[in-house]
Amino acid sequence: MVKTSAPGKLMLFGEHAVVYERPCIVTAVNHRMSVSIDKRNDEKIIVNAPEMNVKDYKISIDNLNGKYSRETAFVLTAVKNFFDKYKCESGLNVETHSEFSSKFGFGSSSAVTVSTLKALSELFNVKISKKELFDISYKTVLDVQKVGSGFDVASAIYGRTLYFVSGGKVIEEMNIDRIPLIVGYTGIKADTSTLVKKVSQEMEKEHEKINNIFNKIENIVIEAKRKIKNSEWSKIGSFMNENQKYLRMLGVSSPELDKLIFSSSKAGAYGSKLSGAGGGDCMIALASDEKRDLVSKAIEKAGGIIIPVETNVEGVRIERQY
Ligand code: MEV
Repeated sequence: MVKTSAPGKLMLFGEHAVVYERPCIVTAVNHRMSVSIDKRNDEKIIVNAPEMNVKDYKISIDNLNGKYSRETAFVLTAVKNFFDKYKCESGLNVETHSEFSSKFGFGSSSAVTVSTLKALSELFNVKISKKELFDISYKTVLDVQKVGSGFDVASAIYGRTLYFVSGGKVIEEMNIDRIPLIVGYTGIKADTSTLVKKVSQEMEKEHEKINNIFNKIENIVIEAKRKIKNSEWSKIGSFMNENQKYLRMLGVSSPELDKLIFSSSKAGAYGSKLSGAGGGDCMIALASDEKRDLVSKAIEKAGGIIIPVETNVEGVRIERQY
C-alpha cells in the first residue's frame, strides 16, 4: 500500500495569460489531497472517493477506455496513462481523501492526478523524475479537461512558490519564506473551462487588444517575481491591483469578487486580486500583520468567507508505504 498527498494551490499572478505562453507565479497551500493505492489479485480497479460521493466504483482493466464519469475521470485516466506508458498493470484499490472542497478552486483535480501517479510509480517501483511526473500528470489533466497551462500540476508536484511558463517550459522554484496572504472565498463555484473558452473567444475577436493585455500581465509577473524574492510586499500589493485591473478588462472578474477586493483595499490591504480562473472561487489580499484582522473582517463583512491557508508548502510526498 502506498499513500501519497499533494497540495492545493493559489495563483498569485498571471492567470489566463499563462494559457498563452506567458509566465505566472503560483504558491502551494497546506490543504492537501491524498490517495492510497493497493494492488489487488484480480483485474478490477475499485475507486472510493468520499468527497465526490463515489463508493466502491468498479471497472475492469480491459474497460479503461477513456470514457469515465466526471467523478472518477482524473484517477482512472491517470491509471490508464501509467499502465500504457510504463507497460505494467494490476487490479487496484484506490481511495482518495480531500482536505479541501473542490469548490474553492484550489486545484483538486491536479492534486488528485499527481498523488495518484506518484503513488503508482512507488507501487510499481518505477523511478520517475519530477519533470517526468509533470509530463504524465499534465497529459492526464489535458486528456480529461482539454484546456489548461499545467501550472496547478507543477504546483502539486514541486510545491513551494513557482515561476512557471505554459506547459512547463520553465518551472523555477522561488526562494521565499512566507507570504502574508489572506484568502476570501466568494461562495460561488467557477468553471475554469468556461472562463478559459470565454477568453479564447475574445482573443479571436480582438486579438491585438487581448494580446496587449497579456503582454502587460507578463510584465507584471516579471516585476513581481523580482519583488517577491525581496519580500517587498507593499510593492507586490500594487502589482496585484494592476493585475486585477487587466483581469477585469478580460471580463473574468465578477461583482462578488470585486466587492471583496474593493473592501480589502479599503481596509488597508497592500493589494488584492482574484486568484485562478475568476467568475467566483477565491480572491487574495496581501496585508501587513497589523492590518491582517481589519482586512479579514472587511472581507467577511462584504460577504466573503475567510479560508485560513499556509502558503509555500511542500509538494507531493509519500505519507505511508508498506
Ligand atoms: C485557472 O486556475 C488559471 C487559468 O490560467 C487556467 C490555467 O492556467 O490552466 C485561467
